[in-house]
Amino acid sequence: MHHFHKIKTTKVSRETNDCVHIAFEIPEHLKHEFSFKQGQYLNVRFVFGEEDLRRSYSIINAPSEDNPEIEILVKHLDQGKVSTYLNQELKLGDFIEVMAPAGHFYTHYHVSNQKTYIGLAAGSGISPVISNIKEALYQEPLSSAYLFFSNKSLNEIIFKKEIDALVEKFEGRLKVIYLLSREKHFEDELFEGRISAEKLDLLFERFPEIPVQDATYFICGPSEMIKGISDYLKKEKKVPSLQIMYEYYSAPDDEGNAEMSDEFKAIPNLESMVTLIIDDDEYSFHLNSKKKSILDQALHEKLPVPFACKGGVCCTCKAQVMEGEVFMEKNFALTDDEVERGFVLTCQCHPTTNVVMLNYDV
Ligand code: FES
Repeated sequence: MHHFHKIKTTKVSRETNDCVHIAFEIPEHLKHEFSFKQGQYLNVRFVFGEEDLRRSYSIINAPSEDNPEIEILVKHLDQGKVSTYLNQELKLGDFIEVMAPAGHFYTHYHVSNQKTYIGLAAGSGISPVISNIKEALYQEPLSSAYLFFSNKSLNEIIFKKEIDALVEKFEGRLKVIYLLSREKHFEDELFEGRISAEKLDLLFERFPEIPVQDATYFICGPSEMIKGISDYLKKEKKVPSLQIMYEYYSAPDDEGNAEMSDEFKAIPNLESMVTLIIDDDEYSFHLNSKKKSILDQALHEKLPVPFACKGGVCCTCKAQVMEGEVFMEKNFALTDDEVERGFVLTCQCHPTTNVVMLNYDV
């Protein structure tokens, strides 16, 4: 279920100076497993010496496109070993270890819907947003979409050609506003700067035809952008939470604001016997509630547990609690319904009872 497959690359091309565009050739026997929904992502794995590195990258395609391929965009990060390798060393035809698509950043479309979708993306956050917007336009002929997309400069606008082609293809149904944060805008001062709650307020004034409260939002970018915009939409504009979907670039803690929560400090200090069910096998180990997460201890024990981000974002480490209780420190991935049904992110979990059993196979 959570296995990596070696998949051949069929396109490795430069999208901008610091972004590479990669396409995969999914072999016939994996086509079903790799069927995907708009807004989902792929986990990739690289082993560099002793290090087993996993990363998640959003699929940029929409399932309803003609011959949808599976393609991702990888932005180069200065300290990022995987992104540096993919940007600087990967060659066409190389194989990469890839897991089947996963993620919940999507809504369900219906041919009779007449809705407005609003994409709010910063930089490489465009990937899952454009995937959703394309799918909406393909599946719902009566719906329309706005995309507010911020980049540093005109040259760095990711997928500009493709996005402009979509505007032509879906004439009158897709409006795109490019915002530039480090360059003067060619058209209008309003389109300078980053996307923020204040900027969005001004943009809504400029486009009064947008049904702000009834629209469905797809947001992807840095955590402060997501938080600022979603708070503004919920509190100021009274947009129901179910109409606001967001996907983090990375765990907010990776952006420098990590600290142990008061709730974690307050859990009991106890020794627990943790049992994990993985691919029908059972594995047990002892773990102190205040020490490593269940996932980290399982990796320390060299168990075949699935993981990618280790930050509560990607959902790859999801398991269901079968016995006992755990404390989940962060959750940027599971829905309320999943949490209610006992699903947890094991990279964020600590046991709070003496016996805990988790099932990864569900
Ligand atoms: S490994 Fe990504 S949420 Fe746990």
